Amino acid sequence: MCGIFGYQGKRSDAQKILVHGLERLEYRGYDSAGLLVWNEKGEMKLIRAVGKVSNLANKVAKNISDTEVFTFGIAHTRRATHGWVTEENTHPHHDMNKHFYLVHNGIIENYHKLKQSLIAKWYTFYGETDSEVIANLLEDTRTGDFMETVEKVLWMIRWAYALLIVSTYAPDEIIAVKIGSPLLFAYNEHNEYFFSSDKQALAGYADKLIYLDDGDIVHLKGNDYQIKSDGVPTKKKIEDMDMELLESSKWDYKHFMLKEIFEQANIIRRIFKGRADFNKKFLNAEAFHGMEHEHFKKIVFVWCGTSYNAWCLWTYRMENLAWLDSSCEIASEYEYKHIKVNDETLYVFISQSGETADSIEVLKLIKQQGGHTFGIVNVVGSTISRLTDYGLFTRAGAEIWVASTKAFTAQITSILLLALYLGQKRWLSKAKYDKVMIELSKVPVMIEDIFADTSNIRKIAEAISEYKNFFFLGRHYQLPIARESSLKLKEITYLHSESYPSGELKHWPLALIEASIPSVLFAPNDLMFEKNISSIQEIKARDGKVITISDKDIHNADWNIQVPSTIDEIYPFLTAIVGQLLAYHVADILGKDIDKPRNLAKSVTVK
Ligand code: AGP
Ligand code: GLU
Repeated sequence: MCGIFGYQGKRSDAQKILVHGLERLEYRGYDSAGLLVWNEKGEMKLIRAVGKVSNLANKVAKNISDTEVFTFGIAHTRRATHGWVTEENTHPHHDMNKHFYLVHNGIIENYHKLKQSLIAKWYTFYGETDSEVIANLLEDTRTGDFMETVEKVLWMIRWAYALLIVSTYAPDEIIAVKIGSPLLFAYNEHNEYFFSSDKQALAGYADKLIYLDDGDIVHLKGNDYQIKSDGVPTKKKIEDMDMELLESSKWDYKHFMLKEIFEQANIIRRIFKGRADFNKKFLNAEAFHGMEHEHFKKIVFVWCGTSYNAWCLWTYRMENLAWLDSSCEIASEYEYKHIKVNDETLYVFISQSGETADSIEVLKLIKQQGGHTFGIVNVVGSTISRLTDYGLFTRAGAEIWVASTKAFTAQITSILLLALYLGQKRWLSKAKYDKVMIELSKVPVMIEDIFADTSNIRKIAEAISEYKNFFFLGRHYQLPIARESSLKLKEITYLHSESYPSGELKHWPLALIEASIPSVLFAPNDLMFEKNISSIQEIKARDGKVITISDKDIHNADWNIQVPSTIDEIYPFLTAIVGQLLAYHVADILGKDIDKPRNLAKSVTVK
């Protein structure tokens, strides 16, 4: 989702640092970008552009000469929530008298009422955003003290937001506020100060980092800064920036998504390190202990999108391997249920980014009621990783591109390790545990087998890329994989596809089966194999086309994609990779912008 970057320091070309910061935040998803730079003399330049950050960069190069000096700046990539994608609606925004300028991530829920009251006082608006309302409110509320003015306005607006605010009344100051949307504050020994929506964009610039929490306000004034938490001056923990520069090369891959798909075998090896000893069939990690509580009778998993599919897979595993009751909840819905937190339930939150607003909202609700929480998160230092009581990092490395691939695999690997760990402490038989451990150890090599020759997947992708609608079907462990593969296809090809449990076909999806709607059936040689063969018959009898993903040669399928043979618990690793590759190749054949799918953001920080 949108990105915020701010700079104050000694360099004379703040605009270049801001553009670079925005480029590093591009992966989060956006539709327009803008920046404001200024200097101690009070000279300012506001530059905005619709579309890519490169459009903004071109405009900046045309409008700011090398002899001009700008030492402050705020910048933003917008993902429109209120108002069309136009230059007027692009941030930074200002009030009608151009005294306050700001960038805003999030939504002001009560903006309409506030806007009406400002209009009644003759305030004018050039755009349609909720953010512009904050700028006019600041002007309307100003007291002569910048901080006091901001604090008064914060009482009026309803979150969520991350804001960077500057004012011509206080030219060497920046005020940053965080409620609900991510924001970090960082600096280096050269007295350069930065604000950013994520840590990755700060690599190489800052060496000290402060994670801001909801309710925090940073007041940066020259080389001095103060932080208030919920209105009270506070000292925050200062952390060392331990992040390496982002890997920004595609190597020989045509797209970053493909590169991330091919990283997966090694990522799984990395997840095993220090946690799984396959020779001794031993699992251990400090983090596993957080789940191990004799009172826990139930696990509730709360997630969104791809992470939700990963969790659904885990609910089967928890029940089958660890014999723990579990349920899987979509965060954006769960929040509105009457959640009855109790001491016997563990609430597990899984997230690649650790910043998904819907999940964070539920996490806060659970915490308010004293619930036990556990996080499985990829981004170290992210909000969910900091708010949960215990946690496990998924070690997928920075997943930059919108369509999640390696983070999903890392999630399902971590999930299986945890389920096995809990299983062996509970009732899982030694024979079953050993069997899964043996097969799990082979997963990286089996994945490499799939990567060794993907020509058949490409050929099938070519054949099916002519269709406009698809069904993705699976049973048991393969149902979440069917869902995830369908999500992948939709996300990057914009083709319509629906996923169903294969057993549900006869209840109604059969009504839609016809020659123009192929079905992708996940049918490895597992417990459900025979049933899946019946599903193929049902589809073929209605003239439907079938693509199977299986280790068996299924003679009545129209196309078959082969995976290595293994056991039920392990097939999902292999079939998921095939699902990713199939979606990727169809999108590539159709010439889609795979690394930047339309309307989507990497990290969804608004509700
Ligand atoms: C996956 O390809 C997505 N783009 C999306 O569904 C994502 O998984 C979802 O927004 C949740 O994100 P998180 O894992 O960072 O919480
Ligand atoms: N609500 C604001 C807008 O529509 C900010 C959106 C964002 O977070 O990018 O401009």
